[in-house]
Amino acid sequence: MHSSDPAPVARRSEPPTSSSPRAAGEDPLLRAVGETPLIPLRRIVDGAGFELWAKAEFLNPTGSVKDRAALEIVREGRSNGLFGSGRVLLDASSGNTAVAYAFLGARLGFGVELCVPRNANPDRIARLAAYGAATVFTDPAEGTDGAQREARRRAAERPDRYWYPDQYNHPANPLAHFRHTGPEIWRQTAGRVTHFVAGVGTGGTISGTGRFLKEQRPDVTVVAVEPDGPIHGLEGLKHLPTALRPGTYDARVVDRTIRMETERALEMRRRLAAEEGLIVGASSGAAVVAAAEVGRSNPGSIVVTVLPDGERSVPSDRDP
Ligand SMILES: Cc1ncc(COP(=O)(O)O)c(C=O)c1O
Repeated sequence: MHSSDPAPVARRSEPPTSSSPRAAGEDPLLRAVGETPLIPLRRIVDGAGFELWAKAEFLNPTGSVKDRAALEIVREGRSNGLFGSGRVLLDASSGNTAVAYAFLGARLGFGVELCVPRNANPDRIARLAAYGAATVFTDPAEGTDGAQREARRRAAERPDRYWYPDQYNHPANPLAHFRHTGPEIWRQTAGRVTHFVAGVGTGGTISGTGRFLKEQRPDVTVVAVEPDGPIHGLEGLKHLPTALRPGTYDARVVDRTIRMETERALEMRRRLAAEEGLIVGASSGAAVVAAAEVGRSNPGSIVVTVLPDGERSVPSDRDP
């Protein structure tokens, strides 16, 4: 247990599996996926009557939460022999899943092709090339919906060439969080978590983690964070009312949705760097603003959120 985790109390029930993503990896490097620290955000909360904790997902091997889903999806594909005929993994992504797949392809030795909006983070795009993955750029105006449509079109055209797992609809995506992220949070808070707040991209994180936590304790409140409109600067998040609805988003698990303005998320991102020592992406800022809002209106709560990714470059006022 991380030294700053809350004091342990008896666990209410066991997670559905004892294997962590670390144990699941055949390769020692893949064992670095998951089991991220749960860190307190004390200065952001500043004496208010609740606790705020965040999963440091930027510590995954490629620097984002998406290593979890990509690993679970690839493991499933490998165990079902879907790479056996030398097929190439094809999927759409806003950037982080693409990097996670590209890393896994380089590490495990399979071909990867990604459909990515042309305005994706340049650092992510550079890393795809470094890992040797093929990249198909799609219209930035269509966001990840356009990338999904392109991946679908390619997969339908060449089913012999591609394995298209479709992270937006693949059950292994939320399952990664049901099996690992949820149990980790439950263990790391010693079952004290009262609220779980997470941004929605594919919905895998919120649906899988939220379902696990609610199975342990039905009164855990699950809060989704979405951008406040279709045009936004919160990379990795989707405005569901106007987007292709991902099959991996389970609305039954979500009690409430907070719609976040990009500007507030970016302001929090600056605070996270200066006050908490965390250089993270815009979606982390959005999650923390929402989590703090939830905590303030629920005195005594133990709020847990997710910091989906980090940044190598310093956040600037001009971002995104
Ligand atoms: C930066 C970032 N934040 C949040 C998310 C949302 O995670 P999920 O797809 O599990 O909903 C993503 C997903 O791509 C992301 O890249």
